[in-house]
Amino acid sequence: MQMALTIARWLVRITGVLALILGLLFWSGTALSQIPVHMLLGLVLVLSLWVLAVLAVQAGLPIGMAAGVALVGLIALLLGITQDSLLPGGAHWVIQVLHLLLGVAAVGSGEMIGGRLRRMRLAASAA
Ligand code: HEM
Repeated sequence: MQMALTIARWLVRITGVLALILGLLFWSGTALSQIPVHMLLGLVLVLSLWVLAVLAVQAGLPIGMAAGVALVGLIALLLGITQDSLLPGGAHWVIQVLHLLLGVAAVGSGEMIGGRLRRMRLAASAA
């Protein structure tokens, strides 16, 4: 369980940072051939978030918190997969900004729930 928590937390961090770097490169018009890599990184990030959500439920954290984290991951994934076709034209930047914000929110929610789980484990082992 501890191993799964550590791996999932680090996967969220590493894939999140790499996806962000690639995304910013896309924004500047470079590295566009790496979009499939970016999407794979995003998928691993979301799967890791879902692992954290399951671990949180098993550890007794509020189910609403775990569901919220899982939902942020799901929305980030769905928006990422469909964003090309959303609001085409001059307003597409709205989708791009939304996509960036959701990606950052996904990483942040992983940090939040992963941190809560880690502190629970530390408190339990100190008691
Ligand atoms: C959750 C899975 C994700 C999928 C499926 C996904 C998919 C995509 C795709 C297909 C593009 C290229 C759009 C285009 O240029 O036409 C893109 C761009 C981008 N992504 Fe992601 N992405 C994901 C996660 C993330 C995350 C976690 C971040 C940041 C932490 C992020 C940040 C960006 C940025 C800044 C861009 C460039 C602006 C844009 O085109 O929206 N993405 N993403």
